[in-house]
Amino acid sequence: MRVRTDLQDGTGVCGRQNLLGGRLTSRAGRFTLGHMLPVPGEITRHARLADDPEAFLEALHRPLPTDLRWNPLAVDRARFEEMLEREGSGWERPFGSDDLYRVTGLPGPGLTWAYHLGWYHPQGYTSTLPPAVLAPRPGENVLDLCAAPGGKTSQLAAMMQGEGLVVANDISIGRLSVLAANLERLRVPNALLSRYRGESLPESLSFDRVLVDAPCSGEGTFRIEGGRWREDPPEAVRKLPGVQLRLLQKAFRLVRPGGLVCYSTCTYAPEEDEGVVAALLETTGAEVMPLPEGLSGTPGITEWEEATYPSELARTRRFWPHHTDSWGFYVALLRRRD
Ligand SMILES: C[S@@+](CC[C@H](N)C(=O)[O-])C[C@H]1O[C@@H](n2cnc3c(N)ncnc32)[C@H](O)[C@@H]1O
Repeated sequence: MRVRTDLQDGTGVCGRQNLLGGRLTSRAGRFTLGHMLPVPGEITRHARLADDPEAFLEALHRPLPTDLRWNPLAVDRARFEEMLEREGSGWERPFGSDDLYRVTGLPGPGLTWAYHLGWYHPQGYTSTLPPAVLAPRPGENVLDLCAAPGGKTSQLAAMMQGEGLVVANDISIGRLSVLAANLERLRVPNALLSRYRGESLPESLSFDRVLVDAPCSGEGTFRIEGGRWREDPPEAVRKLPGVQLRLLQKAFRLVRPGGLVCYSTCTYAPEEDEGVVAALLETTGAEVMPLPEGLSGTPGITEWEEATYPSELARTRRFWPHHTDSWGFYVALLRRRD
């Protein structure tokens, strides 16, 4: 595919042209691939972090597949698969995943009776990775610090076979009500809801594992068709790394010594990803843990523009839509040493 180059906006992003072989185009801060619809400038700026920037940008123009996470709290696998067949759906389990089904032919994931019975939750493949990496066990105490609308909370509870405790916290009452409905539909028996600014959560409890699926600029959810991304004002985006770091520091005060914290975002912005984890390492005794073998994606970066990050950031992972045909995600697994 030929991609036009006519940089006009003067937004100080010209450096990316070299890295991308001089084939990207910017018009008023937005880049285009050939005749296609524009990709927002910030996302294009981060394309050079991908192993194949052109494939990455092309993937943003493809419709998203339908991914469903089977919910073992409500139905066994055989009945779930029978239901898919009865509904006329084709399916595969991509990337060797255990509970994720990529389906075709359903009228709409929220339109089946099985959805209302809680047999599955529509959840993109990459969105299932943070709970998978945190890997809670039955009987543990787990905190989901930014939990709504609850896809990952219900996944954590399912991994724990409904045993132990998941505290699902979120700042937003509106989103917490959606979370409550989701947890009820998905028959989660072991969640407790709380509404705190995560940074202010009382420190009277201690957890075995904490998920920080942080508020972020959400670039990874942008797909031309079917994406949910809404560009936030730049001043709001500039504040995000500070909020994310405070949430992550709080998670480290709440996890027991030796416990695990998973930090995830759905953005490509290094300032919200490796930059936040690097800042945490400066202030706490956190250890960056390797992720399970065989995951797709590329290692976390250790350099970005003026910044350099510690080499262990390469143990974190960036997940790209051209590898997974799913949302863009960033995942870091961290352990409290003392
Ligand atoms: C990426 S979404 C979480 C998605 C959720 N983990 C899931 O899988 O369904 C980020 C959430 O953080 C919440 N949030 C934003 N600022 C927060 C804060 N300071 N403390 C706690 N939650 C916050 C938002 O309301 C939003 O629901």
